[in-house]
Amino acid sequence: MRQHVNPLSRNFNEIERIPHLDDAFGDAKLNLHLDIGCAAGEFLFDLALVNTSWNYLGIEIRERLVKNAKLKVEEGKIKNLYFIFGNADNILNDVHSKCILKNLKSISFNFPDPWFKKKHHKRRIIQPKFINILSNSLKKGTLIFIKTDVKDLFNYMDGTISSDVSFKTINEKDFNYSESFNPNKVKTNREKYVIQNQLNIFERIYMKI
Ligand SMILES: C[S@@+](CC[C@H](N)C(=O)[O-])C[C@H]1O[C@@H](n2cnc3c(N)ncnc32)[C@H](O)[C@@H]1O
Repeated sequence: MRQHVNPLSRNFNEIERIPHLDDAFGDAKLNLHLDIGCAAGEFLFDLALVNTSWNYLGIEIRERLVKNAKLKVEEGKIKNLYFIFGNADNILNDVHSKCILKNLKSISFNFPDPWFKKKHHKRRIIQPKFINILSNSLKKGTLIFIKTDVKDLFNYMDGTISSDVSFKTINEKDFNYSESFNPNKVKTNREKYVIQNQLNIFERIYMKI
């Protein structure tokens, strides 16, 4: 399995459309959370099985992972979890995604690929243009969660989101997780690895205002 794919490759120009919420979920009226770069989706399975008052949507660019995740959803008859394959930037730029973006309660970017070399920074998922799409489409009150173990990437993501005046930083100490998409603070796979190896985690929460 390839660990990294180039999101700017033309292979990802054609996108899988996000279906209408009624077709994706058993109850389209539940709170909706989007996880970008969800890998095999284990984190979202953990969340969806316990938090049945939330719908979870995962976007992942590695096709094999998404195919397997979709099979697991079907086999488990899980009605509050849906996966989409492709480059999140292309998918959310599509006019058909605007309705989904309007319905989101929150979005997470958990340990996105750092793309260390400067010439590859343009492959990072968080870009000013991408944040602009979010700031134009999300409704007020929508939360964005970022988390990474790479300080330089954190500074870059934080700078990019904070320089958009439609987002304000939420003080984590005042944040009530129990009402969020992740009330039990379930860890992602990368997060478990980072904790086991005693590496730092840099995280921040923003709200669309
Ligand atoms: C380092 S992994 C972290 C996976 C998971 N979020 C976690 O915390 O364990 C980053 C994931 O983001 C995916 N990814 C990278 N760029 C993406 C993009 N533009 N659109 C969708 N997924 C992307 C990668 O394929 C990979 O699965």
